[in-house]
Amino acid sequence: MLKVIHVTDTHIGPVGQLVLGLDPHERLRQVVHAINEDHDDAALCVITGDLTDRGDEDSYRAFADIVSVLKIPYRLLLGNHDNRENFRRAFPDAPVEDGFVQSTADFGDIRLIFLDSLHDNHAGLGQLCNSRLRWFSGAIDEAAATGRRSVAFIHHPPFSVGVKMFEQMILENPEPFLNQITANKPLHLVFGHLHLTTSGSWNGIPYSCNRGVAHRIALSLDGDVTEFVESEPTFDVMLISSGGVLVHHTSPTTNSAVIAREYPTENGKGHQVVLRVNLEES
Ligand SMILES: [Fe+2]
Ligand SMILES: [Fe+2]
Repeated sequence: MLKVIHVTDTHIGPVGQLVLGLDPHERLRQVVHAINEDHDDAALCVITGDLTDRGDEDSYRAFADIVSVLKIPYRLLLGNHDNRENFRRAFPDAPVEDGFVQSTADFGDIRLIFLDSLHDNHAGLGQLCNSRLRWFSGAIDEAAATGRRSVAFIHHPPFSVGVKMFEQMILENPEPFLNQITANKPLHLVFGHLHLTTSGSWNGIPYSCNRGVAHRIALSLDGDVTEFVESEPTFDVMLISSGGVLVHHTSPTTNSAVIAREYPTENGKGHQVVLRVNLEES
């Protein structure tokens, strides 16, 4: 079983800079701490873009400082808030193919494919140009030829997720990519970008999206105004085998008091010990 941690939309700014009144540095530090404490047996942490809020080099350096303490290897993708040149300056060793931040990683019979959907000319839409589509086609074909199932990671969802505000911010001209995944049927598709925790299936292909580390968007299917709401940072724990993918949505509990523990008993009922007495009862 392959354990992969999915983190997304960290939106880091330069040191000391808040984003929408939140401190993305502190939120990412909490997530990194939780991964190190509870999931240091994972094979990889994948961070699916919007690594920074403005794409400047100082923000990438600040981001690098925080993720450098991860105990597990990590792979970084770009989102619409990122800047490819500045990213590559800050992460000169990050895998790059054909000039894009795209790569693969094989773990036994599983191939993870990491796509670069950063659009060259649009602030919100995603893009997979012919070069990137050709590369993806080769990567997923090679996986099939070597008996591997693929899990693809991309910042932008390649189809509608039923939320009006995102209709103009998904992958531009998605048909070629959708044709490729229809033909090759990856085991699972993972994306970020939405700031919503969303899962489902498209044409038989399961997908998951975590709402991420930074600001959360209040779900509104038809709203014209986007509301950002206070919420804890989150991440996903993925257990992957060629037979399927399990996704747990979770969040750091460092700042959460344990209020009770339940111990197993022979009769299956469990023995519960409450650690924090309700104020009204005391
Ligand atoms: Fe984002
Ligand atoms: Fe995004």
